[in-house]
Amino acid sequence: MTSLLLLTAMFSALFIGQSLAVTSYIIPPIRSSGPEAAVIFVPGARIDGKAYEATARAIQAASNIRLWVALTGNYTLNNMATPLDLPGAMRGAYAKLQKAGMKGDKYVGVGHSLGGVFLPPYAKHSPLKAVVLLGAYLTKGNSLSEYPLPVLTLSAELDGQTRITRIAETYEELLKDISTAPASLYRTPVLNIAGACHAQFASGKMPATVVKYDLHPDISEAAAHRQIGQHVSDFLTVSLQIGDVTKGKAALRQAFNDAGTRFKVKDVL
Ligand SMILES: *[C@@H]1O[C@H](CO)[C@@H](O)[C@H](O)[C@H]1NC(C)=O
Repeated sequence: MTSLLLLTAMFSALFIGQSLAVTSYIIPPIRSSGPEAAVIFVPGARIDGKAYEATARAIQAASNIRLWVALTGNYTLNNMATPLDLPGAMRGAYAKLQKAGMKGDKYVGVGHSLGGVFLPPYAKHSPLKAVVLLGAYLTKGNSLSEYPLPVLTLSAELDGQTRITRIAETYEELLKDISTAPASLYRTPVLNIAGACHAQFASGKMPATVVKYDLHPDISEAAAHRQIGQHVSDFLTVSLQIGDVTKGKAALRQAFNDAGTRFKVKDVL
């Protein structure tokens, strides 16, 4: 009898879990006035949604936008966001942000690791205005130039999971785009943080695979978060056209040139 009850409970959890389990944790803006926007995080595999709180707060600290945050989490299957979860998870985030008092619809998706693999296909046909990929990239068959939204590819030099050698291919793709369309630098920037690792896009305890493959960072987590905050803030300014766009573009250009010294594309053998 007990086991029958248990089975029934498990079955109904599986059945209804899909739409009910995913939640969003909202962090209100720290600025008291000004144009509003929101960043909505999609976590990496088996990483808790709240593990991005410090990263998100660093973006708020760097930005002059009245910036809301939604951290999606509690994904049904092994705490892992899947393509099937995303439409419902994001709908839940938009609704919760509006309910919390957000004005307007300037939503930007932020995906880390596997979350950054699944976010771009969803984002193509969604209310999102731009996409940020942390330790992730647009996968094969999705070129930067044909992707319909602005996308920031932000990588870490000592990322042991999403290796800098793979991101260098995306950087090279961007260099080619820039040679014919210079504004690509600002629409689809590919940046890199010196000395940072995969885990530093988040914080707290990491799942076993991240611990196993990640490299030892040369900078502190706080320093990594500050740089993530600054790059994402500049990208938000430029892609949403809020605030000092000229200054934002100059910062993205400088970060792009700095990244080039580590990607060392082709001409260096
Ligand atoms: C996950 O669920 C717990 C328990 O309900 C909640 O406290 C937490 O805020 C949720 N996490 C996210 C990221 O929504």
